[in-house]
Amino acid sequence: MFARRSFNLFQKRAFSASANQASKVTVLGAGGGIGQPLSLLMKLNPRVTQLALYDIRGGPGVAADLSHINTNSVVTGYNPDEQGLSDALKDAEIVLIPAGVPRKPGMTRDDLFNTNASIVRDLAKAAAKASPNANILVISNPVNSTVPIVSEVFKAAGVYNPKRLFGVTTLDVVRASRFISQVQKTDPSDEKVPVVGGHSGVTIVPLLSQSNHSSIAGEARDALVNRIQFGGDEVVKAKDGAGSATLSMAMAGARFAESLLRAAQGEKGIIEPTFVDSPLFKDQGVNFFASRVELGPNGVEKIHEVGQINEYEQKLLDACLVDLKKNIQKGVDFVKANP
Ligand code: NAD
Ligand code: LMR
Repeated sequence: MFARRSFNLFQKRAFSASANQASKVTVLGAGGGIGQPLSLLMKLNPRVTQLALYDIRGGPGVAADLSHINTNSVVTGYNPDEQGLSDALKDAEIVLIPAGVPRKPGMTRDDLFNTNASIVRDLAKAAAKASPNANILVISNPVNSTVPIVSEVFKAAGVYNPKRLFGVTTLDVVRASRFISQVQKTDPSDEKVPVVGGHSGVTIVPLLSQSNHSSIAGEARDALVNRIQFGGDEVVKAKDGAGSATLSMAMAGARFAESLLRAAQGEKGIIEPTFVDSPLFKDQGVNFFASRVELGPNGVEKIHEVGQINEYEQKLLDACLVDLKKNIQKGVDFVKANP
C-alpha cells in the first residue's frame, strides 16, 4: 500500500516537473505524407505539451485522430484562414514546416522551387508575425533555397534570429549511417558519418574519413558516397510518382525536434547536423551551410568546423560550394523580387 502511494507521488511529481516546461510544437503541412507521421511522432513525445496542426486541407481531421492517443499533450487542428494560421503558430517553441509539393521521378529538388518558394515565403511571413521567437525547422524542398527564403522574410519583418532557423538535413546522416552499416555489416546505431554542405545532390557531402571506416576507398567509397548523395532519388523512383521520402523523413524530423527540446530543457552536448546561417564559408559567399551544430536553449549554441578532410572530400566540398552559393542566392533573390 505504502509502496504504491510513494510510486503515485513520484509519478505526480515527475508529471508536474515536465508539465512546467510547456513546449508547443506546430506543424505546417500536417496533413501531408511527412506531416501526418511527423505529427504522430510528436504526439508520442512526452516533452511536447501542445501540438498545433495546420494544413490547407485536413489539419482538423489529423488533429482529431491524434487527439485520441493517450499521451498528455493537447492537439488542435487549424484550417487555412489567416486566424487559423496565426492561432496555430502563437506561442510555438518549434515550428516544423513540411508544407509543399514533393518530387516525381525525373525531377530535381530545384524543380520544386517555383511552387514551394511562395508556400514557404507565405508561411514564414505568418510565423514572423505570430511566432517570431520560435525555432523554425524547414523541411520543404529545395532546403538550400527555402531556408534563405525564411531568413529574408524574417529580416524584412525585423525579427531575424539566425540562431533559431534550421534546415532539416537529419535524413542525410540517418541514411549515411544506415548505408555504411549495410556495406560494413555493422549495427547502424554504432555508425556516425558526418554529412556537411546542403541538401541536394552534390551539395550533400559525406565525410567517410571521419567515420568508423576511414580507410574505405576506391569503387566502394564512390558507390557509398553516391548512394548517400542520391538516397532521396532512390525513394522517389520506388514510389513511382506518388512522392518522396515521408516515413524516414518523419523519423528524421522528429529526431531533430526532440534534440532541440532536450537542449531547450537544459541538456548539454546535444549535437545535430543542420543547415544554418553559418560563418564557415561566408568568405566564399556561401552564407548557409550544414555542419555539426551544438544546440542549446537559444537554438544554435556552437557551429562546428568541417574538420580534417582528405583530398577526395575536398573535391566534393568544392563542387558543393559552387552549387550551394547559387541555390542560396536563388532564395534570396526570390524574396527580393516577390516580397
Ligand atoms: P505531401 O504532398 O504529401 O504533403 C505536403 C502537404 O503540404 C500537403 O498536405 C499540402 O496540403 C500541404 N500544403 C501545401 N501548401 C500548403 C500551405 N500553403 N500551407 C500549409 N500546408 C500546405 O508532400 P510530402 O511528401 O509531405 O513532402 C513535403 C515537402 O518535404 C516536399 O517539398 C519534399 O520535397 C520535402 N522533403 C524534404 C526532406 C528533407 O530531408 N528536408 C525529405 C523529404 C521530403
Ligand atoms: C529526400 O532527401 O528524401 C528529400 O529531400 C526528398 C527528395 O526529393 O528526395
